[in-house]
Amino acid sequence: MRHLLSAKDLDRAEAITVLDTAAAMAATQSRQVKKLPPLLGKTVVNLFFEDSTRTRISFEAAAKRLSADVINFAAKGSSLSKGESLKDTAQTLQAMGADAVIIRHSASGAPQRLATSGWIDAGVVNAGDGTHQHPTQALLDAFTIRRHLVGSGQDARATGQGLDGVRVAIVGDVLHSRVARSNVDLLHTLGAEVVLVAPPTLVPVGVETWPCTVSYDLDAVLTDLRPDAVMMLRIQHERMTAAGGGYFPSAMEYSRRYGLDARRLGALTDRAIVLHPGPMNRGLEISAAAADSERSVVLEQVTNGVAVRMAVLYLILAGSAEGIPA
Ligand code: NCD
Repeated sequence: MRHLLSAKDLDRAEAITVLDTAAAMAATQSRQVKKLPPLLGKTVVNLFFEDSTRTRISFEAAAKRLSADVINFAAKGSSLSKGESLKDTAQTLQAMGADAVIIRHSASGAPQRLATSGWIDAGVVNAGDGTHQHPTQALLDAFTIRRHLVGSGQDARATGQGLDGVRVAIVGDVLHSRVARSNVDLLHTLGAEVVLVAPPTLVPVGVETWPCTVSYDLDAVLTDLRPDAVMMLRIQHERMTAAGGGYFPSAMEYSRRYGLDARRLGALTDRAIVLHPGPMNRGLEISAAAADSERSVVLEQVTNGVAVRMAVLYLILAGSAEGIPA
């Protein structure tokens, strides 16, 4: 793997290699000493033009656990706020000897530009670009779903397997969600069946070409389709700036029709799990009862995110899955 720009870049075998490598990484993370040597001497730059808590510290932890040096480059407080271009920033990183650049940007396509511009030699990992893609989030979601729903029981790592036949409902602000786009692509590649559930105003134009189905009725999906995993999406207020706004009548109306509350939680099958990429709007798309319930795997997603990012950095910087720590 040279770069990871989109979940679409991965075919089934490559996606499974990442998940299996992540499983090997996760197994090392219950040890007392979590640090491993393979990326000693490599430099990883976290280039974040958009706010992030989880994703940035997750990449930082992942790189450090593999013994890489990490440089955090936040747009605020840097020359970027003085109008320095992506090109100048990239050339600075090149001059500093970056081996991998993790980029988050509000413009869809910025990571692609960085990777294909010839400005830098580093491997590029997309940590979320606009409403486009967030491939490591989809990988950590697939990893979490596989751990719970494939193979025998919670601890099975289901090595070598995809997500064949697993039914996943992705619910909420699909329009603004790079998490939804990446998950539709990756879950489909891995053999899962995906249904998107959202009000018509939050369903993107062109969704009929995506490898999934669409419903406007959450209750019908829960009772008829009986999903094994329900992924709630954050209502992205900060991206709802288009003229007029008004994607739904009111927060209360949205919660009533599309929120995961105690009643809907009760309608899930015994084995169903609840995911959310965070940050959660408690009381809007997910009630506190659902967020904190036994079915919620939200904190496991965060933990698994580190193992998945270790795997991605390892595969990009060490070149192959060979020699992964036993
Ligand atoms: C997501 C993101 O930034 O795309 N969060 C994350 O990476 N943990 C989802 C979101 O912001 O709603």
